[in-house]
Amino acid sequence: MSSKCVILVGGGTRGTRFRPLSLDIPKVLFPVAGRPILSHALSALAAVSSIKEVLLIGFYDDSVFKDFLTESAREFPGLSIKYLREYRALGTAGGLYHFRDAILKGNPYRLFVIHADVCCSFPLEEMLKMFEDKEAKAVILGTRVDVASASNFGCIVSEPTTKKVLHYVEKPETYISNLINGGVYLFDRSIFDVIGAARTARLEDSLAMVEEQLGEDDGDDVTETLRLEQDILVRLAQADGFYVYETRGFWRQIKTAGSAVPANSLYLQKLFQTDIDAPGLARASAQIVPPVFIDPTASVDPTAKLGPNVSIGPRARVGPGARIKEAILLEDTEVKHDACVLYSILARGVKVGAWARVEGSPITPAQHSTVVLKNGVRVQSVAILASGVSVKDEVRIENCVVLPHKDITSDVENEIIM
Ligand code: GDD
Repeated sequence: MSSKCVILVGGGTRGTRFRPLSLDIPKVLFPVAGRPILSHALSALAAVSSIKEVLLIGFYDDSVFKDFLTESAREFPGLSIKYLREYRALGTAGGLYHFRDAILKGNPYRLFVIHADVCCSFPLEEMLKMFEDKEAKAVILGTRVDVASASNFGCIVSEPTTKKVLHYVEKPETYISNLINGGVYLFDRSIFDVIGAARTARLEDSLAMVEEQLGEDDGDDVTETLRLEQDILVRLAQADGFYVYETRGFWRQIKTAGSAVPANSLYLQKLFQTDIDAPGLARASAQIVPPVFIDPTASVDPTAKLGPNVSIGPRARVGPGARIKEAILLEDTEVKHDACVLYSILARGVKVGAWARVEGSPITPAQHSTVVLKNGVRVQSVAILASGVSVKDEVRIENCVVLPHKDITSDVENEIIM
């Protein structure tokens, strides 16, 4: 019996928190651990034998995914991967309902729905097993976060032994649980009945509202836009058959540009632990502290010291004596001799001069924010240099976000440079 997967990829008007990196490349195609964010989810899906088709649903222009789809067809020959474009943002459940005929074509037995911006171990087989064991209608991936971060996510209260979801609240104002929605779901076909019922309820509400407001008819907007969290999961929790699979594997959300750095570390560590001979993974040595990914077209001087958790992109050049740690260098970047790049992202074509220093601050793996307190001031933990930025020799940049094509000629700290 075949299963399908929908990946919710969002669109260009969202993902603004990923600026300035999303000015060049949509967030979901940004490379972490040497490949686009979306490819990590596709790899996990390709490993599940029952999944034959993946539908990316979003509101980006079709051209955005053209090359990615061609490359993915080559990389994942067992998967049929298509992009379906919403005519506007329909919400996390609106697109599912709008494209229900395409999704249900071929009569899939199970439907995974994945948020494109989660970085995790994707325990899909475990979720399928729970689905069968519990004879469930829906299974949600849950993960524990620190109590202070919980209200930034959907929160789940479950029955401790059966794992039945009792209560779901999206981004609650007061604390209810630190077991949160991990952005991966498994449904059976009855999900479309639940979405249909939620849509009807919204239509009735909006008609009542229109009557009250005497003719301000925005009914279309209200009913086509549906939120999986508030409109659907809350309903599922009130009925039987909704369970949570609590993962003990790694989990992060990729929201801000800086969050690409912890995601890069987590995916590199996973690769290093599961496939030490994977193409691009550098061997440990006095100069390489694994895991480090180096694109085959990059050139790294043997006296440069790299790692841990470093990805070096196509045609990047790293000079003698340079030091790079917890960082992503995209294509055509250059780090000259004796420069230092720590907790940072260098976008396409960035040049860092000799003896210069580009530096962010460490964040703990459990921390779900990329903001740190420095001398009592909230600053971006990761230094981000957007495409085409150049840093003069011997200049120091600390906890800054630099917008495209700026020349930095003197030391800067804790600033957004426009
Ligand atoms: N196709 C489509 N259309 N996708 C969308 C739309 C839309 O209108 N709106 C959002 N998405 C996609 C985003 O690209 C992202 O992959 C995912 O849906 C969720 O995005 P948000 O709506 O921004 O929600 P969030 O990230 O603040 O919180 C959600 O995800 C958390 C886990 O990562 C919620 O589901 C939380 O409960 C959850 O904890």
